[in-house]
Amino acid sequence: MSTKIAGIAGSLRRGSVNQMLLRAAAQVLAADTEFSVFDPLDRVPPFNEDWEADPAPLAVAQLRRLIAAADGLLIATPEYNGSIPGQLKNAVDWASRPHRAAALQGKPAAVISASPSARGAASAAADLRRVLAVAGARVIDATLAVPRAFAQFTPEGQLADPQLRAHLRAVTEELTQTAVRHRQAA
Ligand code: FNR
Repeated sequence: MSTKIAGIAGSLRRGSVNQMLLRAAAQVLAADTEFSVFDPLDRVPPFNEDWEADPAPLAVAQLRRLIAAADGLLIATPEYNGSIPGQLKNAVDWASRPHRAAALQGKPAAVISASPSARGAASAAADLRRVLAVAGARVIDATLAVPRAFAQFTPEGQLADPQLRAHLRAVTEELTQTAVRHRQAA
């Protein structure tokens, strides 16, 4: 049985280094992994508690279905003003509700990040890890912050630095292993 991993990149822009990082992660995931990326992040409306249960807006229903069907979640986050971009936090808020039936509840999750800065969006990654844990996800220890990200990718979309590539592989392996254990325990 293949392991299902859902991916979300927290940036909406064309040429996003976090979207590139998510694609690089897809290249190092184990062959028996099914990787599905949620891309209509820009169609997820601002969270509204009046609409948190059915009928949720279409893109929210899609987001929740993708996360609920996945064994694990991999999020690549940019950093805006020292923290998580609003559109990504908004998606996490939607996926954290309804409270007792949330798609994120107990879901193994890994956070990776990239930025042109020297810290690789590490503050946003730390905040996202904390937010995901509060939302009920099971956040794994492994994480990767890619610094100076505009210079890190090969034309084929891989991380050029072998150490960063190995690190990314280690994150995906820990996520996949946690996801398999989680599925077996369910
Ligand atoms: C940024 N950027 C940024 N970078 C960073 O390392 N720390 C920060 O606090 C911020 N703050 C910030 C605020 C806003 C509003 C924008 C638009 C940008 C720069 C950011 O890292 C850069 O635009 C990345 O390229 C964003 O990631 P994507 O879109 O390439 O994935």
